[in-house]
Amino acid sequence: MSTSTNERPLSGIASIGLHLPPLAMGVEELARLRGEDPDKFTIGLGCKAMSLCPPDYDVVELSVVAAERALSRWGGDRDRIGLLAVGTESALDMSRPLSAWVAERLGLQGSIRSYEVKHACYGGTLAVRQATEWRMAEANQGRAALVIAADVALYEQGDPGEATQGAGAVAMVIDEPEVALIEPHSFPWSEPVFDFWRPVGEAFPRVDGKLSLECYKRAAERCFRALVGQQDPEQVFADFTAFCFHVPFPKMVLKAVQRVGTFFRWDPERIATFFAEKVSPTMAWNRLSGNSYTASLWISVANALQGLQLGERVAAFSYGSGFGAELLTLKAGPKAISGAWEKDVVTDLANRQFVDAAAYCALRA
Ligand code: COA
Repeated sequence: MSTSTNERPLSGIASIGLHLPPLAMGVEELARLRGEDPDKFTIGLGCKAMSLCPPDYDVVELSVVAAERALSRWGGDRDRIGLLAVGTESALDMSRPLSAWVAERLGLQGSIRSYEVKHACYGGTLAVRQATEWRMAEANQGRAALVIAADVALYEQGDPGEATQGAGAVAMVIDEPEVALIEPHSFPWSEPVFDFWRPVGEAFPRVDGKLSLECYKRAAERCFRALVGQQDPEQVFADFTAFCFHVPFPKMVLKAVQRVGTFFRWDPERIATFFAEKVSPTMAWNRLSGNSYTASLWISVANALQGLQLGERVAAFSYGSGFGAELLTLKAGPKAISGAWEKDVVTDLANRQFVDAAAYCALRA
């Protein structure tokens, strides 16, 4: 087992697998259906398309395909998996964890800690942190963790959030940091609020959109202030190749970047350049798949890590309504440069079928 200079085991992402479902709809088609100006969705929210699941295609299917891809890329023996954690807000049951459905399909049982993590869109990040800390604390006894962030994001038809729908899954084996080291120190911020929630028994979330946006921006400012601390902000920001955010819709990320930049007294031009160069490119896959709640940040991180040189750093801001946020920092490992997981997204995007408004209405009926 490799160790850091202070002899603590290094922990991080050993492999990544992604999966997007086989259907999608362009947001301009949704705008026509709802009688909205398409520019509201494309320019106002920054969205392009939303991934959709066919009937009988659910969060378990998304999770299993992503996990199989991550496991085959990792190449280790499945007996070495000692922890299975699934972050989701698309749970199938109030008691039985989603991980049980996933474990059944993957043939994982026995001496494994298997559980579901719920904290809105932050659940996947919490699962990643727990797996990382489990390994760093040497509670893993030499074994690896399989972490999955997976969701199907649907709003009530006609809801203002409908254009931000999506679905997807990211699976990561947490083991030797061959793709990326997850740095031990992270920067959390939480406040108890009702900005987005789904009462027990209700099919769709309730959202206070304005409050949600304000909380997201406040959390981002607090987390980045903690990252910078007493250091020179210019030096801290320059040390990162890319900045990934949870992406409910790309415009929300832009607004958070504006808030952070304003705190550090950047002028509007500096903020725009920073966003264009270090943030916007990481959302290329998010724009095509829509919001996938817990998976959303990790789709952006997977995009940012591909092709990085050893040691290049990426910052990852996670936000989950309710609310909890955390800023993680990652350092590229030797396998980042191959970007092998890009193939998953390219394949899924090439194979997916776009539905029109009539087919969408039939899907939602
Ligand atoms: N052309 C270009 N832009 C337009 C437009 C048009 N014709 N019409 C509206 N817009 C812009 C608005 O100006 C606004 O941009 P701004 O905020 O920069 O001013 C944006 O489009 C959205 O318009 P708005 O009227 O605020 O939308 P809405 O009230 O219908 O709300 C959401 C839509 C998506 C913002 C809201 O439903 C929401 O917040 N949803 C969920 C948020 C979420 O996911 N939270 C939980 C996790 S973080």
